[in-house]
Amino acid sequence: MSDKPRILVTRRHLAEIEARLQRDYDIVLNEDDHIMTASEIIGAADGVDALFICVTEPLSEKTINALPNSVQAILTLSVGTDHIDLAAAEKRRLAVLTTPDAVTAATAEIGMLLLLGAARRAPESGRYLRAGKWQTWSPTQFVGVEITGRPLGIFGMGRIGRTVAERARGFEMKVHYRNRNRLAPDLEGSAVYFNDLGEFLAASEFLILCAPSTPETKGLLNAETIAQLPDGAIVVNIARGDLVDDAALIAALKSGKIAAAGLDVFNGEPANIDRRYFRLPNVFAVPHIGSAARQARTAMGMMLLDGFEALRAGQPASNRVV
Ligand code: DGY
Repeated sequence: MSDKPRILVTRRHLAEIEARLQRDYDIVLNEDDHIMTASEIIGAADGVDALFICVTEPLSEKTINALPNSVQAILTLSVGTDHIDLAAAEKRRLAVLTTPDAVTAATAEIGMLLLLGAARRAPESGRYLRAGKWQTWSPTQFVGVEITGRPLGIFGMGRIGRTVAERARGFEMKVHYRNRNRLAPDLEGSAVYFNDLGEFLAASEFLILCAPSTPETKGLLNAETIAQLPDGAIVVNIARGDLVDDAALIAALKSGKIAAAGLDVFNGEPANIDRRYFRLPNVFAVPHIGSAARQARTAMGMMLLDGFEALRAGQPASNRVV
């Protein structure tokens, strides 16, 4: 038996990450990258020191309580923790490490891509071109709206929200935000804080959701809040699907109340997404690729292993959430 720490790795990773895992750890690797069930995870965790998981492996209280005693830490390749029952982990004295910072730039880039693509009708015009339908240039074809100089409401002004704000300023957008708390002046910059949700929404010609999924943010975008947006608003979600009430958003996209949406995350993803989104021409949808950039995914894995090594050395890990 190896004296290296043993880690259960539930998914396949970029080569640099797997090389470090192979070099420094005794790993139990899910070779074929299938989605492991809770009971498979519990079984495969026998004798392991840590689980190296992703958002694809929900760890409920029941699963956490059934993990073998050898497990000391959960390393999740995500900044979001809504797939883990943190209270249960804390109760079992399991450390939970995440990937703050590593995902920030990549996710903000997807936010800008969706904002631009939704505003300028990128998916719709691209499909038209590929279908061989393009006959002539036309002054009235695929006319979208400029984002330059327009008001952008950022819901959730954490690292990702603030980075979106910086990128949006490059487009001269007028940034305002909602957050659990108003930011300190050095973090707030020129962004305008709205204490009142209704006033925030009414000012959000463009709205981007960047907040984590919590009991307070779930269902934030619903029929009532959509009604408070300006007519023809453009909405982007790079947070979590459950911030949105799908039926309300789909109805608003059909009526034109919302002109277009850019969506990276969905309720029920991947198998049970409301497929009505895919029939709407004004939806720019991508499959949860916010952090899917080589730099980000490498940094995420390295950050988890650095944190785990710090813990093993009895040091604090800056990416420890529990
Ligand atoms: C995150 O970091 O939470 C992403 O949504 C997935 O890794």
